[in-house]
Amino acid sequence: MPPGKNKNMKDFGRLGILTSGGDSPGMNAALRAIVRSAHFYGLEVVGIRDGYDGLIKGKLAPLTLRSVGNIIQRGGTFLGTSRSQEFRTKKGREQAYRVLKAWNISALITLGGDGTMMGAGILSKEFPIQVVGIPCTIDNDLFGTDLSIGFDSAVNTAVQCIDKIRDTADSHGRVFIVEVMGRNTGHIALETALAVGAEYVVIPEAPLNLKKLVGKIQAGIDRGKTGSLVIVAEREHPGHAIELAQKVMKFIHRDVRAATLGHLQRGGSPTSTDRNLASRLGAYAVDALLNRKTRIMVGLHHDELKLVPFNVVIGKRRKADLERLKLVHRLSI
Ligand code: F6P
Repeated sequence: MPPGKNKNMKDFGRLGILTSGGDSPGMNAALRAIVRSAHFYGLEVVGIRDGYDGLIKGKLAPLTLRSVGNIIQRGGTFLGTSRSQEFRTKKGREQAYRVLKAWNISALITLGGDGTMMGAGILSKEFPIQVVGIPCTIDNDLFGTDLSIGFDSAVNTAVQCIDKIRDTADSHGRVFIVEVMGRNTGHIALETALAVGAEYVVIPEAPLNLKKLVGKIQAGIDRGKTGSLVIVAEREHPGHAIELAQKVMKFIHRDVRAATLGHLQRGGSPTSTDRNLASRLGAYAVDALLNRKTRIMVGLHHDELKLVPFNVVIGKRRKADLERLKLVHRLSI
């Protein structure tokens, strides 16, 4: 008998796992933790390739303990991912459920961001399937958790890149407007700006004050600063840094350059913070399923693991810390 076998598993079918939406560093570490915990309890695990799309298309295969060997340090997701349009339709979800039934999957763990949680919420409302979500998004915008898997790695990647940009900005006495990811939220921008000692940060949660931005850069130059860094969140589409650079150029008599970090923030080896968060949340998600929990996301609050119902998570967004924005500006004098 497996080491952790318990009575709660009597009428359990198999456990299905999938990753969906934008990948984030640490997803592999979470998949490893789920598979290893499930096997610890004697549960069979089935990996679903390419997110909800792969579920609809029946791209499934059993996962053994060895399937998740040597992946804790790898970025991306070894299962593949997608942003499925078909799963948004009732027909798509009916087909997904047929596949789950055919594979005798009675419980599902979904890893991803807000779109993934929304999909999981609808599926578990429409069909008798137990579902637990794990927050994975570099944007860190999921409501109900202080930290999502991937955020810390993305910020550290951005910081490494921007430190390099600062070298050349200082050498040439240039102003650099650097765009980071985050979709409609400024969490990556704020955390990164504070860590690189940026002169200014622009996020979607606070209106842009061009006069203040230009004034801040000019005051720095007047005090003898060489290079200047402005960190800007991408908003709905990349390209915001270029627009802003063109505006700033009109007022500052220095070279102004734009740089967009883009998808390199999503790749690379996860930090220890992300690996450990992933291991904790992955194991906790399996425990939650065995305790018959469903329609919940596992999350972190003041470093404690907790369960948050889907109806609390879905449709909301983690607020940006505007105190942090003020701090960036205060420290850059
Ligand atoms: O949600 C994660 C994220 O990387 C956002 O920061 C970004 O706006 C978006 O995904 C990019 O999506 P895609 O890879 O589909 O272009």
